[in-house]
Amino acid sequence: MVRSFALAALVVFVFLALNTVTCFKSEEFRKCQQTPFCKDSRARKPGTSGFRASPAEVVDGFVQARLIPENSTGSDNLVLKLIVYQGGVLRIKVDQENVPGGKKRFEVPDVLVDGLEKKRLWLQRITAKDGLSTFYLSSGHEVVLQHEPFQVYVTRGQEKLVSINGKGLFHFEQRREKQEGENWEEHFRSHTDSRPYGPQSIGFDVSFHGAEHVYGIPERATSLALKPTRGTEEHSEPYRLFNLDVFEYLAESPFGLYGSIPFMLSHGSKRTSGFFWLNAAEMLVDVLSPGWDGAAAEESKQGIDTHWFAEAGIVDAFVFVGPGPKDVVQQYTGVTGTTAMPPFFSIGYHQCRWNYKDEADVAQVDAKFDEYDIPYDVIWLDIEHTDGKRYFTWDPITFPTPKEMQAKLEAKGRHMVAIVDPHIKRDEGFALHKEATSKGYYVKNSHGSDYDGWCWPGSSSYPDLVNPEIRAWWAEKFTLKNYVGSTSILHIWNDMNEPSVFNGPEVSMPRDNLHYNGIEHRDVHNAYGYYFHMATTQGLRNREGQRPFVLSRAVFAGTQKIGPIWTGDNTADWEQLRVSVPMILSLGITGIAFTGADVGGFFGNPSSELLTRWYQLGAFYPFFRAHAHLDTKRREPWIPGEPYTSRIREAIHTRYTLLPYYYTLFREAHETGIPVMRPLWFEHPNDPETFAMDDEFLIGDALLVRSVYTEGSNLETVYLPGSEPWFDIKTGQSFNGGKTYKLAVSQDSIPAFQRGGTIIPRKDRFRRSSSQMVDDPYTLVIALNSTQEAQGELYIDDGKSYEFEKGAFIHRRFSFSGGKLSSSSASPASKSYKTLSTVERIIILGLDAKKVPAAHRALVEEGGQDRQADIEAAPPVLRAKLKSNAVAVRLPNVSIDKDWSIKVL
Ligand SMILES: *[C@@H]1O[C@H](CO)[C@@H](O)[C@H](O)[C@H]1NC(C)=O
Ligand SMILES: *[C@@H]1O[C@H](CO)[C@@H](O)[C@H](O)[C@H]1NC(C)=O
Ligand SMILES: *[C@@H]1O[C@H](CO)[C@@H](O)[C@H](O)[C@H]1NC(C)=O
Repeated sequence: MVRSFALAALVVFVFLALNTVTCFKSEEFRKCQQTPFCKDSRARKPGTSGFRASPAEVVDGFVQARLIPENSTGSDNLVLKLIVYQGGVLRIKVDQENVPGGKKRFEVPDVLVDGLEKKRLWLQRITAKDGLSTFYLSSGHEVVLQHEPFQVYVTRGQEKLVSINGKGLFHFEQRREKQEGENWEEHFRSHTDSRPYGPQSIGFDVSFHGAEHVYGIPERATSLALKPTRGTEEHSEPYRLFNLDVFEYLAESPFGLYGSIPFMLSHGSKRTSGFFWLNAAEMLVDVLSPGWDGAAAEESKQGIDTHWFAEAGIVDAFVFVGPGPKDVVQQYTGVTGTTAMPPFFSIGYHQCRWNYKDEADVAQVDAKFDEYDIPYDVIWLDIEHTDGKRYFTWDPITFPTPKEMQAKLEAKGRHMVAIVDPHIKRDEGFALHKEATSKGYYVKNSHGSDYDGWCWPGSSSYPDLVNPEIRAWWAEKFTLKNYVGSTSILHIWNDMNEPSVFNGPEVSMPRDNLHYNGIEHRDVHNAYGYYFHMATTQGLRNREGQRPFVLSRAVFAGTQKIGPIWTGDNTADWEQLRVSVPMILSLGITGIAFTGADVGGFFGNPSSELLTRWYQLGAFYPFFRAHAHLDTKRREPWIPGEPYTSRIREAIHTRYTLLPYYYTLFREAHETGIPVMRPLWFEHPNDPETFAMDDEFLIGDALLVRSVYTEGSNLETVYLPGSEPWFDIKTGQSFNGGKTYKLAVSQDSIPAFQRGGTIIPRKDRFRRSSSQMVDDPYTLVIALNSTQEAQGELYIDDGKSYEFEKGAFIHRRFSFSGGKLSSSSASPASKSYKTLSTVERIIILGLDAKKVPAAHRALVEEGGQDRQADIEAAPPVLRAKLKSNAVAVRLPNVSIDKDWSIKVL
């Protein structure tokens, strides 16, 4: 009876799903014209802001002033605070001085790093002159507060870098009492927003002087360098930052997708700077093209103006002075946190599908990987594995013995990921629902009762994870005892956490819903998924001190310190393959280093060639997972057959050989915030050729990848930046830097190059999963530059625990010069992590035959002992296609964790 009722509900639901959610319906989503604050903000004219700042004073080491509106009533002033942090970071806060009824405007907690206050500079004095108050920011940089009209800008010497309200668009709708007869309601389609606090939007302009391009403010499917949205006329909708579940999203659209990171970088030949507005309400950003304000093009060409506006909250903004791209990201992640160190297995290959049907299906897919000699680390279970979309449960028919299933995977060193979404099935028989209801843990509707929305399980409610007490309760659900059927190899996937509500406004939650402390959903919307991700991750972290892996779809500023995200429900077409690169780059430069796009495309059926090309590109994504919709044909790597399967195997194998390099880069992201996958201008900031380039990318500073984005292509254009040579990673062929090449491409792989001057650590042996590679020996690939030098690093730890935080790691630096490779410690470890790994081969690319005429042996020196190793003219992989002077040192057998040197004779 219960089952057949559930079945009936399912049928109704599938019907609804097919009719309402299977494709992008632009009318489901608001346009700027349909959102009053957006429309009004866009209509504002430059120079109309009308605020002046009172004399500035130093209070508790920061600068404070009042912002006084034109025709002030005396009770409608704003408070401005200017706070400086070490390393070139300025914080600008503006809030209402008096709020009727004392209901303060919302300020987003839990995003800024804990230690931020300790990095605050205690300001001593302000220089006041000519209506300007000037104070110290960092070496060479000052902050200037112009009093009338109010404006704040950062200078370096005589040069302005970034200014706020330089164009006079600052506005601030103050929370106030409702006037007689005033109606604050807003309507969109069939939805009414009661707007109990009335209009409270904020906006201002930010100018990046000297910038040639601006980047960032993900998430959307568009180019990395952001195109103008407005000029003398409107070009397009503004860039929207509002987390939504957009089905079958379109490439080339300013429309916001599942995540919002209100952080923008600007870059030009002279410098990079950044701007971040910590605010979780709906936000929009216009990038203005020269002449938008009527100023002479000549004047406005020397920079880029942007206009930012949000529905609610306060101004809590940060300016980062750079001067380089890496400095800006380090400054930003110094404020919002750096990438959590991932468990090692999670940087391997992930096999996902909606859905692996049952335990036999999982066993069969797992076995096929071995049969076809394809390494993989993780198999995923989507929503169908649960008992009627009740998360934390298992379908009793299809997944009756989840622990046994996981034990079989564990025996091969593999892992499993299961989905847990935030919509809780409203079912009286579901213990989780009963408990959440009785404890009052659900988000409330505007009338104060539990909000009831429609999602995968049908009628659903959403835990209020904005509340720390509820996050702690949620985290407890992941203990091995509470999560029945889970084992320590089970990790989690958080989908639908924008949150997605099929029958809600814009497929999400009403803005007047209520969180704890009376916080309106509109204030916290863009951070709801962040809190859900945080609570889930905390749950796994509590489990046994192992590093958790929790993938989220929603993203907000600071998500990097919690865990990875992916770019959501893409489509199996060439355009979406192409746009995945700027999407991942954009997330990377805004702090989110651990990301990827669904390999193969979620919706639709890729051709075998597209699928293969997607594997060849996806093998370089920081997060490498294949995924597919329920309605698509099966497409595991062996399905397309030969020659595709071999090409896919080769792509995945290439990823596995590079895992030591990727892990070292993740360590760098964890330490510094610098992304794993980087735009070319990150490493070549003075080369204008690279500024708008997003069809090729770098992995770390050593690898350049150019994907192929068209069917049947056999010729591609590749730009190789810099003045040093590059080496094809497959053939060893060398190319001069600073040139554009038309290269023949094959179906076997996509072009990838190692930069001269770098050393990449690899593990070349073929294994079933990363855990079986732990003690494997290394290959070091040395690509020499014009001075016959190179250097590189390797970071290793146990890949699982937090012992690395106590120094249990190995961090080596390799450098090659004068014909000699040396290994030394890159950072002292307090407690040594032990490994049996040695170096089995050293490949040297670009060795100058004139300098080392007859390289035929190598002198190995380790622990005071000398011995000799053989040299071959070229390793077997290169021999066939060799087009450069490559040699390989065979079996030097040095320990990876010791000091040694190897001289080529
Ligand atoms: C201030 O008052 C003057 C005179 O009444 C009026 O012209 C002006 O528009 C007012 N400004 C604002 C911002 O309301
Ligand atoms: C060659 O590489 C070494 C090591 O990375 C570097 O120190 C040196 O500056 C490079 N030389 C040139 C000409 O780029
Ligand atoms: C390195 O180890 C291999 C296998 O253990 C051995 O055959 C070889 O002789 C060793 N080479 C050197 C130079 O010690």
